[in-house]
Amino acid sequence: MGPPSTGFSDLESHAHATLTDAVENVLDPIHTLFVHSGIIRGGGGPTSKVTLEAGIDAGELVMRYSGETQSNGLMSRLLESQRSHAISRFRRPGVVSLEYWGKHGLNLVTTLYFTREDDTHLRGFAVMTGPRQYGLGWIKALLFVPLMRIVISQDLRIMANATENWEAAGKPPHANGPLDILYPLISQVLDGQTNNVDVQRVTLDI
Ligand SMILES: [Fe+2]
Repeated sequence: MGPPSTGFSDLESHAHATLTDAVENVLDPIHTLFVHSGIIRGGGGPTSKVTLEAGIDAGELVMRYSGETQSNGLMSRLLESQRSHAISRFRRPGVVSLEYWGKHGLNLVTTLYFTREDDTHLRGFAVMTGPRQYGLGWIKALLFVPLMRIVISQDLRIMANATENWEAAGKPPHANGPLDILYPLISQVLDGQTNNVDVQRVTLDI
């Protein structure tokens, strides 16, 4: 990777969400089909069988996506060259990184930092780093930030709705379905889990 660029470091937002929910929102690929339909995935093109492997290694949640050379949404089709795999990481107290690897190395790293204002309000900062114009070329890079702003506003809206519903229902404990492998791992990292957790694997047709 050549000299990094960090021109998007001013992406800052406020979220009405718990830290666990916000981190899950960043890492979870399934919601992109509905919340970011057409932009990240769900664009009507061919789907991919994506294998998601997630575990905890030395206090860090590490998740690897493979099998998706391109997401079938506008951003990936318009902006991204062929992806080989992606690796996402989460570490206490609130650092998430998303690494998108191409055939020739890293194409883009997005690093997010969340800081808690109280139990259900967060401030988030995002920094995007890539080889040159985030590996996109300058015309594509011009489209990237406006699209990212739309994606973030969609996430902020659904997280606020979910948090308001949860509060109105008396804050019940979180229920996990069979595909929710991330939420328990995020909770364990936040609780200071130091033992490694074996990799769990799911395959999704997205
Ligand atoms: Fe999202």
